[in-house]
Formats: sequence, structure tokens, C-alpha cells
Amino acid sequence: MDRIRAAEDEGISPHLVTKLVDYNAVSWSKLNSALRVREKEHMYSDIVIKHLTHPRNEGLMDNPDAVGTAVSLECESTVTLYLRVIEERIVEVKFQASPCGAVLASTSLVTELLRGMTLDEALALTPGEIVKSLGGLPPDKVRCAVLAPQALRNAIAHFRARSG
Ligand code: FES
Repeated sequence: MDRIRAAEDEGISPHLVTKLVDYNAVSWSKLNSALRVREKEHMYSDIVIKHLTHPRNEGLMDNPDAVGTAVSLECESTVTLYLRVIEERIVEVKFQASPCGAVLASTSLVTELLRGMTLDEALALTPGEIVKSLGGLPPDKVRCAVLAPQALRNAIAHFRARSG
């Protein structure tokens, strides 16, 4: 109930709160996403809002082949990517990201882009391509798109160090 009250205090409509409760999705992640959309809905593209409200591949992975993390020194936002790799190709991706909405949306999108890529193809993914695929980001949020590729590079370095 505290979460619901917190959402209402932040101006989330009773309808949205009820909807979140209905599908038993009142996790902090979902609630934070709703709050971020509320704050920024006039600034974010439809694609960003789609990823904020329904993040793809969010969560932990059991026994990943590679793990990479990136942290923003400016705001301490964090991204962790978990990869499953078969013969140099990414077959499964999971992520955890907080607390920046642009980081959450860009990492969610990256997990969709990565599936099926070779590690070399993944390394070529740039923040600019991610921003473009998101339909743009507000100017003060463009820098947030660097965290997912940084975490990805760290994950691939981890994988290659482990594989020898
Ligand atoms: S990563 Fe710091 S505001 Fe987005």
C-alpha cells in the first residue's frame, strides 16, 4: 500500500495505479517507470515511453556467460548486462538498470538489438545508433545512452577474458 500511496502522492492517476495493481506489477521498477513517464511524457518519444512502461528483458540471468556493468560518474545511474553466448553469438540478454529513465529505455532497446548479434557486431553498436533507434532523446538525456554500450563492452571483455 505504501507504494500505491507514494504513486498517488506523485500524481500518478488512480486509474494507472489500479492497473498496475491489477496485473500485480507494483514493483518499484514499474512504479518508477510510471513516475518517469509522468515527469517526462512531453519530452520522450513513443518508443522511449514504450520501453519505460514495458522494459524488455529486465531482470537477472542464471549462470550468465558474461556480466558487464557501467556507472555514470555524474549521477550514479547503473546498468548491468547479462549475456548468454553461443559460438560468439549473443543468444540471450537480461539487464538491470537504475534509476534514470533514459538509461532504462535505452538498455531495454539494446537488449532487443543484441539478440542474435555476434560479439563483434555488438561491439560496433554506438550510442548514436541507440538514440536514433529510440526516436531521439531529450538533449539533456542523450549522454544517458552511453551506459548500455559501456556495460556491453565490459561484458564482452569479461567473456573474452574467461574464454581465454
Ligand atoms: S544517466 Fe544520469 S541522468 Fe541519465
